[in-house]
Amino acid sequence: MPLLELIGVCKGYGQGQQRSEVLRDIDLHVEEGEFVSIVGYSGTGKTTLVSLLAGLRLADRGEVKWKGAAVYRPSPERGVIFQNYSLLPWLSVLDNVLFAVQQVFPSWPVSRQRTHCEKYISMVSLSHAIHKKPSELSGGMKQRVSLARTLAMQPEAILMDEPLSALDALTRAKLQTEILSIWDRERRTVVLITNDVDEALLMSDRVIPLLPQRDGAQLGSSFVVDIPRPRTRDTIAHHPSFKTLKKAIVAELTVARQRSLEEREAVEIELASTVTLG
Ligand SMILES: Nc1ncnc2c1ncn2[C@@H]1O[C@H](COP(=O)(O)OP(=O)(O)OP(=O)(O)O)[C@@H](O)[C@H]1O
Ligand SMILES: [Mg+2]
Repeated sequence: MPLLELIGVCKGYGQGQQRSEVLRDIDLHVEEGEFVSIVGYSGTGKTTLVSLLAGLRLADRGEVKWKGAAVYRPSPERGVIFQNYSLLPWLSVLDNVLFAVQQVFPSWPVSRQRTHCEKYISMVSLSHAIHKKPSELSGGMKQRVSLARTLAMQPEAILMDEPLSALDALTRAKLQTEILSIWDRERRTVVLITNDVDEALLMSDRVIPLLPQRDGAQLGSSFVVDIPRPRTRDTIAHHPSFKTLKKAIVAELTVARQRSLEEREAVEIELASTVTLG
């Protein structure tokens, strides 16, 4: 049985004339221990998809399942890392992580909670900044705190919504390597949302494009990444599958975007002529 599933899921926002369909007939099955990436253009519905998987939003139609049971609310079993770090600005690095750990492991003595937090802060190479506040940290460091906080809660699945997109290319590459090496050690189930096909291919077992459509985005083909681990940017670039996979994924995304733009134009022309013809 898959750990996490979306079955025929549809989701839109607004009512009546203002209504817009964002996701349509989404089927996704994520096995335990799998690292799956969803790649898509901005505004396609990626955050909406993560919110549904996390239980932060409910589907309009279809089912979201965790270990075969319906998901109605968020749970610490599914940790989420957002685009914008979402740290508490008045708390230090340690206290941000501790705050989360205390919610999940309230019965632990404080000394155990602290040691546990320190382990994960060290794992993301932030021991030197443990008493700093978020305003004293760079973007990359804030994202590391966010990662440490989620890992320290020991979720069974980690849902990452473009965790690295706000970072410069060098910091992004460094953090990708760190996340990969942590994943190699911890082997949690991961769903990574990204706008970067190279990042998806570097990190994942499977990559699925989210294809824009006028009446709600749909998932495209599931591309299995048959490049052996451990992977680095250099080794994957020379693997024969890398170019083939990248080309196929980019082609699927480009064709879908072109088609959705044409459909939108056609609708606009039809509307304009209806208005003109009165
Ligand atoms: N709460 C909301 N109410 C109304 N519309 C929303 C809401 N949240 C998202 N949308 C709309 O749904 C669509 C998809 O948004 P979403 O944030 O899921 O996209 P995304 O792929 O994560 O974009 P980005 O790459 O920019 O983060 C957008 O058109 C957005 O305007
Ligand atoms: Mg988003």
